[in-house]
Amino acid sequence: MTVRFPAPSNQSFMDGGSMGKIGITELILRDAHQSVFATRMRTEDMEPILSKMDKVGFWAVEMWGGATFDVPLRYLNQNPWDRLRLIRKLMPNTKLMMLLRAQNIVAYRNFPDDIVRKFVHYAHKNGIDVFRVFDALNDLRNMDVPMKAVKTEGAHLQACVSYTISPVHTTEYYIKFMQELDKRGSDSICIKDMAGMISPKRAYDIIKGYKDRGGKCPVELHSHSTSGMTGLAYQRAAEAGVDVVDTDISPVAEGTGHPATESVVYAFKDTEWDTGLDMDLLLEMREYFKKIVKKYRHLIRMEALRPDPSIVLHQIPGGMISNLVSQLEQQRAADRLDEVLHEIQKVREEMGYPPLVTPTSQVVGVQAVMNVLFGRYKKIPTETVDYVKGMYGRSPAPISDEIKEMILGPDWKEQVITCRPADLLEPEWDIREKELKEMGLYREPEDVLIYAIYPQIGLKFLKGEARAEFNSESLPLPIDHPMTRAFVKSFFPEHKEIYLSEKDPALMVREALDSAPAKQARPEGPETFKVKVGENEYDVTVYPPGIGPGMEVTRSASLPARNAPVQGPSPARPVGPVKGEKVKSPMLGTIFKILVKEGERVKKDQTLLILEAMKMENQIISPRDGTVAKINVTIGQEVGSSDTLLIIS
Ligand code: CO
Repeated sequence: MTVRFPAPSNQSFMDGGSMGKIGITELILRDAHQSVFATRMRTEDMEPILSKMDKVGFWAVEMWGGATFDVPLRYLNQNPWDRLRLIRKLMPNTKLMMLLRAQNIVAYRNFPDDIVRKFVHYAHKNGIDVFRVFDALNDLRNMDVPMKAVKTEGAHLQACVSYTISPVHTTEYYIKFMQELDKRGSDSICIKDMAGMISPKRAYDIIKGYKDRGGKCPVELHSHSTSGMTGLAYQRAAEAGVDVVDTDISPVAEGTGHPATESVVYAFKDTEWDTGLDMDLLLEMREYFKKIVKKYRHLIRMEALRPDPSIVLHQIPGGMISNLVSQLEQQRAADRLDEVLHEIQKVREEMGYPPLVTPTSQVVGVQAVMNVLFGRYKKIPTETVDYVKGMYGRSPAPISDEIKEMILGPDWKEQVITCRPADLLEPEWDIREKELKEMGLYREPEDVLIYAIYPQIGLKFLKGEARAEFNSESLPLPIDHPMTRAFVKSFFPEHKEIYLSEKDPALMVREALDSAPAKQARPEGPETFKVKVGENEYDVTVYPPGIGPGMEVTRSASLPARNAPVQGPSPARPVGPVKGEKVKSPMLGTIFKILVKEGERVKKDQTLLILEAMKMENQIISPRDGTVAKINVTIGQEVGSSDTLLIIS
C-alpha cells in the first residue's frame, strides 16, 4: 500500500511537530547536478517532470542557489530567475529551497548588505520558501545580515553549520554553534557536510547532543556520498532524531553526489522513520532522469561516481585533488603531488583549519602548490593575503603572528581587519540600477541582481551576447572520440570541464598522426593526413609553426564536415633589441592586469602586472628601480614559465 504524504504546503510535520517520520529534501535540481555534472542541467530538462515531483511529498526540493545562478548565465544562456518562476508555477505544493552562501549570495566574494537584502527579497518574491544559509568558516558575522533578511521576508530560515574535521571542530563546537543558531531565530538547522566526511558516530553524537540539550530546531543532515559512509550516517542520524535528510534521485546519486532517494526511502520503509513518499512516483522520476543524464555524459567522470574513503584521512575532496593534479601538470610538476598533499596539511593548520571547500580550498591548495614549487611562502597570491587579513571572515582557529607577519609583512597589524568583512563595502544597489538603466538593459529589478553579482557574464547575458554550450548529443563527434576534446577546446574555449580522457588533446592528435599511413619528411607548407580513428576517417591538416591556424580537422566520413582549428598557447612576442633587466614569468598563466605603461618610472618591489595562474592572482613585482622599457605581453595572453613579460631599464 502506498502511503500518501500530506502536501507540505498544507501540513508539514516539521511545521506541525515531529511525527517520528523523516522528511526528504530532494536535491536533483541543484546540488545533485552541481556535484555530478557541473551544474549544467538546462531548465527545459527539468520542466516535464516538475508536476510529478510536486506530488511525491518531499519535505522540500532544493532547486536554486549555489552555482545554479552563475552557470545558466555563463554556459546555458538561460535566466536563473525564469527557472525559479517556472519551477514555482509547476510545483505549487512543495517547499522550494535555495542555498545562500551568506554574504557571498551566489558567488564567491562578499557583497554589500543592500545587495544581500534585495536578493533575499526578490528570491522570496519569485518563489523561494526555505533559505539555507551557510558560511564555510562558520563566521556568524557573515551569516547575520542574510539570516535577518530571511526573517524579515517571513520565509523559512534554515541556518547551517558547515562540517569539517580538525582539532578545533569538535562535537562540542558543533553543538554550541547549533545552540547559537537557535538563539538567532533559525526555523531549522542544517548540518552541512559539503565534502561528505561525516561518520555515523559523529552524525549521531552531534544530533543527539543538540537534541538532548534542549535544541529546539528540527535538524536536517546534508551529506555527500564521497566517503561511502553516508547511508550509515543517515541511519545513525535517524536514531539520534534527525528530522530531514538530503538525497538525489538515483540516476544522479552517490559518489560526489548524495545517497539515492529511492534507497533511503525504501530503507526507512515500515520503520518508525518511514518517509511516506510515493515510491511509484519516485520510480517514474528515476526513469525520466535516466534519459536526461545521457545529455550530460561528457561531464561525468567515472571516478566521481565511486566512493573515495581516503577523504576522511587527508580531508582533501576528490575535486580538489583533480584540480591540484591539473595545476601541477600545467606547471610541469605532476610528480610532486605527494609533497603538495603533505604541504596542504601544514598550510591548513597555519591558516587556522578552514574547511577545504571553495573558496578556502583554493587558497590552501594553491598556496601549498606554490610552497612546494617556489619555497614556503616565497610566492603569495592575493587571495592568501586577503584570507590572512580576515577578508573572508574569521578563521576557525587563530592564525599565529609569525604566519601573519610572513604573509603580510612587518606592518601586518595595520592590515588585519577585526570588523565584519562586509562592513568595508559601500551600498551598491542604486549605482548598479542606474548603470543598467543608462545602458538600456533594465527590464526588471531581478536584472540588477544578475548584473551586480556577475558584472561581466551577467552583462553579456543581459545584452543577449551569451551563447549556450553544447550538450553530449550536439557534439560534432561521438562523445568518447579522442578528438572531441580538441573540438570543444576550440569551439568553447571557456569550457574547462570535459572529462573524456586524462590525455592532452595535442597528444591525442599527435598519436593519431603517428598512426597515419603517410609519414614524410616535414614539408614547407601545410600537410594533410588521412587519419582513421575507430570507424571514422578525418582529414587532418597540419600547418608548420607560425603559419595558419596550427591544425584543422575535417571529418571525411559521411557526416557533415566541420572545421575546427586547434591552437596551442600563443608564445610571448619575441623580445626586441631593448636593453635592460628582463622580468620573467615564474609560471604558466594568463596576463590578467597590466599596471604600468612603457616609459613609466617604477620602484623596486612595485607591482607591474598581475598574472592569473591556477585561478589565483599573482603579483609580478619589479626587481629594481628603473623605467619600463618594453611591455612584451597583452591582457589575456597566455604565458609560459620563464617567458619575458617586460623589460626594466
Ligand atoms: Co552539497
